Amino acid sequence: MLGEPYAVIMLHTAACRQYVYSCPQKLPFGKHFWFVCRRYGILVDPIQVVSLFLKDPYSWPAACLVIVSNVFIFVALYTERKLAMGSISEKVGLLIYIFNLTVILCFPMVVVLKLPSITPVGGAFALGVYTILFLKLYSYKDVNRWCRERTQVKARSLSRSLSCPSSPSVSSRMQSHVSYPGNLSLRDMYYFVFAPTLCYELNFPRSESIRMGFLLRRLFEMLLLTQLLVGLTQQWMVPIIRSSMKPLQVCSSALSSFVPNHLIWLIFFYCFFHSSMNFVAELLRFGDREFYRDWWNSETITYFWQNWNIPVHKWCLRHFYKPLLRIGAGKLLSQSAVFFASAFFHEYLVSVPLRMFRLWAFMGMMAQLPLAWFVARFLRGNYGNAAVWLSLIIGQPIAVLMYVHDYYVTHCQDDPTISEAL
Ligand SMILES: CC(C)(COP(=O)(O)OP(=O)(O)OC[C@H]1O[C@@H](n2cnc3c(N)ncnc32)[C@H](O)[C@@H]1OP(=O)(O)O)[C@@H](O)C(=O)NCCC(=O)NCCS
Repeated sequence: MLGEPYAVIMLHTAACRQYVYSCPQKLPFGKHFWFVCRRYGILVDPIQVVSLFLKDPYSWPAACLVIVSNVFIFVALYTERKLAMGSISEKVGLLIYIFNLTVILCFPMVVVLKLPSITPVGGAFALGVYTILFLKLYSYKDVNRWCRERTQVKARSLSRSLSCPSSPSVSSRMQSHVSYPGNLSLRDMYYFVFAPTLCYELNFPRSESIRMGFLLRRLFEMLLLTQLLVGLTQQWMVPIIRSSMKPLQVCSSALSSFVPNHLIWLIFFYCFFHSSMNFVAELLRFGDREFYRDWWNSETITYFWQNWNIPVHKWCLRHFYKPLLRIGAGKLLSQSAVFFASAFFHEYLVSVPLRMFRLWAFMGMMAQLPLAWFVARFLRGNYGNAAVWLSLIIGQPIAVLMYVHDYYVTHCQDDPTISEAL
């Protein structure tokens, strides 16, 4: 069954090996793409993608990890119910949450590091799910605590609103609205877990109905763009990465990878932040569709981080940045803390699945702070915009090649089967 795809992979790797030895490195940027196409034909193989997720078709460790994550959701919900009933104190609740959230980060990390059957892509997927769950449950904890803190004020305002006659539209709106602790249900929790947001609310804005035309357009985009991403990666990016394995070719490979890497990143952005998130939102009748803003017009690095990934930015503001400001931390310290946490998660999502700790992603995120200062201080208008785009076009492929190169040196050089495949 699996023989055919593997034969195709081996043929492709042989072709790429040929390419590595014969490709004239003087070819600039995108011409590598046409060089590969003309010389070796189509290298795209969708079946090969399956092998990135699974080593053994009968073992699905990443999927099992994702299923196990439900345990942490139940613990959070159970803790909140106990807190709402007053069965446990705030202190005990906090301790349970600290334990639960720590395990959410450590458990998948240990599994990915210890289990040889999990592939880097499968590991990254599982860790991504756990990281999203960590951020969601942190938000769930905060919002429910805020609700408990405001219970008295709410009770007073509720008794006032019930004491005066309300119009039918207001009362019908009241009926569909949930108030604490009525939100502590399994249905509400799972709606939040699947909703395309990291910030919990008792009453999310909802759309009236599911628009089938819109839903199908987003689904079509998702399917088409995923194929395009796989195709471009296999046809254009993989040969460049392979050529970077040869000594003294890292710099020329980095130059060649700027265009394909950026194109792939742009397509990924559209596919994830527009097509996929809108698809899920439409399916769940989730009303808040602000997943990104006009980051492409950024004239400062700060503007870019405020606008490119709105769910993460909103979470950072609401649950980390503003609480730090409120307890008296300065603006610079709070910003540095947010970027430090973000750098930690970027490194966690890359280093653990690759089973090597190099800190390139961490340093890339932390470098945003001095870069933001430099761009804001010395560059204005179009120059600032050009600096943002250049940092995206140049920064990412260098980090990608650093990881791939180090992964090869660490894991593949001594393994004759892998180095032969490369
Ligand atoms: C760090 C970060 C949160 C800063 O955001 P910012 O918008 O530049 O922060 P600002 O200082 O402009 O202030 C934001 C908010 O805090 C408020 N604020 C600022 N200083 C304040 C103070 N001293 N006290 C209280 N509130 C304050 C502002 O009024 C503003 O409120 P608003 O959102 O209601 O308008 C943002 O850069 C960020 O999200 N970075 C990380 C992004 C990231 O890692 N993304 C990963 C994507 S893969």
